[in-house]
Amino acid sequence: MPATIVLGAQWGDEGKGRVVDYFAEQADYVVRYQGGNNAGHTIIVGDQKLALSLIPSGIHYPDCTPVIASGTVIDPAVLLAEMDMLGDMNLDTSRVRLSSNAHLIMPYHRKLDAAIERYLGNNQIGTTKKGIGPAYTDKYSRFGIRVQDLFDPKIFAKKVEAALEEKNKILPRVYNTLPMEADEIVDEYLEYAERLRPLVTDTSLLLHEALRRGEYVLLEGAQGTLLDVDHGTYPFVTSSNPTAGGAVVGSGIGPKAIDEVVGVAKAYISRVGTGPFPTELHDEVGDTMIELGGEYGTVTGRRRRCGWLDLVALRYAVRVNSLTKIFLTKMDILSAFDTIKVATGYRSGDEHYEHFPSQQSVLYHCEPIYTELEGWGEDITMVREFGDLPKAAQSYVEYIRDEIEAPIGWVSVGPERSQLIEIA
Ligand code: GDP
Ligand code: IMO
Ligand code: MG
Repeated sequence: MPATIVLGAQWGDEGKGRVVDYFAEQADYVVRYQGGNNAGHTIIVGDQKLALSLIPSGIHYPDCTPVIASGTVIDPAVLLAEMDMLGDMNLDTSRVRLSSNAHLIMPYHRKLDAAIERYLGNNQIGTTKKGIGPAYTDKYSRFGIRVQDLFDPKIFAKKVEAALEEKNKILPRVYNTLPMEADEIVDEYLEYAERLRPLVTDTSLLLHEALRRGEYVLLEGAQGTLLDVDHGTYPFVTSSNPTAGGAVVGSGIGPKAIDEVVGVAKAYISRVGTGPFPTELHDEVGDTMIELGGEYGTVTGRRRRCGWLDLVALRYAVRVNSLTKIFLTKMDILSAFDTIKVATGYRSGDEHYEHFPSQQSVLYHCEPIYTELEGWGEDITMVREFGDLPKAAQSYVEYIRDEIEAPIGWVSVGPERSQLIEIA
């Protein structure tokens, strides 16, 4: 059986956790392929709420192996704490597999992340300050330290010392912060190594063999298309590739293994952190989305910025990811509005944009061109069949499908596992 990618089609927090949990029931493997503990994926089963940052969202299913692949960056303390938290909930984490090639987030990465943000002042990105950017920077500078290095204490110590030789010049001189001690870091990380050892393997080979046996592999993106370092709203992005290409590189399986790419999109849109956002609302409608949608960051608790669904951006996500289907989440939140707007294009001076502008400055100044659709104004959280949705809600879904020229396979109408509608 080929692999399926589930990824964010917007600026993150689309509901990927609940969507992956839904597909995971059938999956043999669920794989995180990029990002780190900047992600916060929520799964709600009954009255139990789980917020996952590193462990793939298949953890509820005992027959599913959660894999953290080589494209990720790992803060070992966070990974171990998350495994302890899951253990306390009686979820078995001994099945988790971690790539020996994944890069480590080191204490100096976290320190640099915060220092760089301070240094940027008004131009800051609004990162999660988890050390993600500096860890990927070291990876691409070939200064990175990988999970496998933990198992050779001498080499590990040498690499930390070499890294600190550079960082301890930068931290005080450029960012006015204290230098760091290599010994302390080495001792701390070598302790983590012992606990991580049983999980660490060649995850590319593991997945290759699973695919050869005909098993079902699900690839779980973190963040979203518009936060992609190549295809997102650079520089207000994360430092990895959440897009479909990143799933292939980050998991170490070839593109021919993929047959479905599911894009998760909210029925409206949100973003955390700074950067352009054409349909952002600064009025009561936006406030209602935030309050009813519980739009506060899973990782940082920050209030998310919200706005009407942006079909220019969604068309772009369909294009850059070859999305085969959309999973539309949080339809229930739109029940609060009499009329619902969707942006079908942008206007900037005399220019009209139907495709996402490649010139970043346009995104700051453009006006969204809205189509107004009728709201349905009634509770839909108990609906489980598409035909039982109010007519206006059905029309909303059909309108989006026609505008983006991609099928909408599912709609969710509440955060709980059962609150979804499969569209035939
Ligand atoms: P992720 O990062 O893409 O996994 O998304 P988050 O977990 O950060 O944010 C999505 C939030 O929306 C979580 O609190 C989910 O429980 C919630 N959610 C997901 N789907 C729905 C839905 O259909 N309706 C409502 N009301 N909430 C949902
Ligand atoms: P999930 O997987 C929403 C945003 C940050 C910031 C930018 C860079 O839950 O959808 P970083 O710490 O990655 O260097 O921050 O990216 N960001 C997210 N926004 N959801 C996420 O993850 C995010 N992960 C990072 O707010 O704007
Ligand atoms: Mg999230």
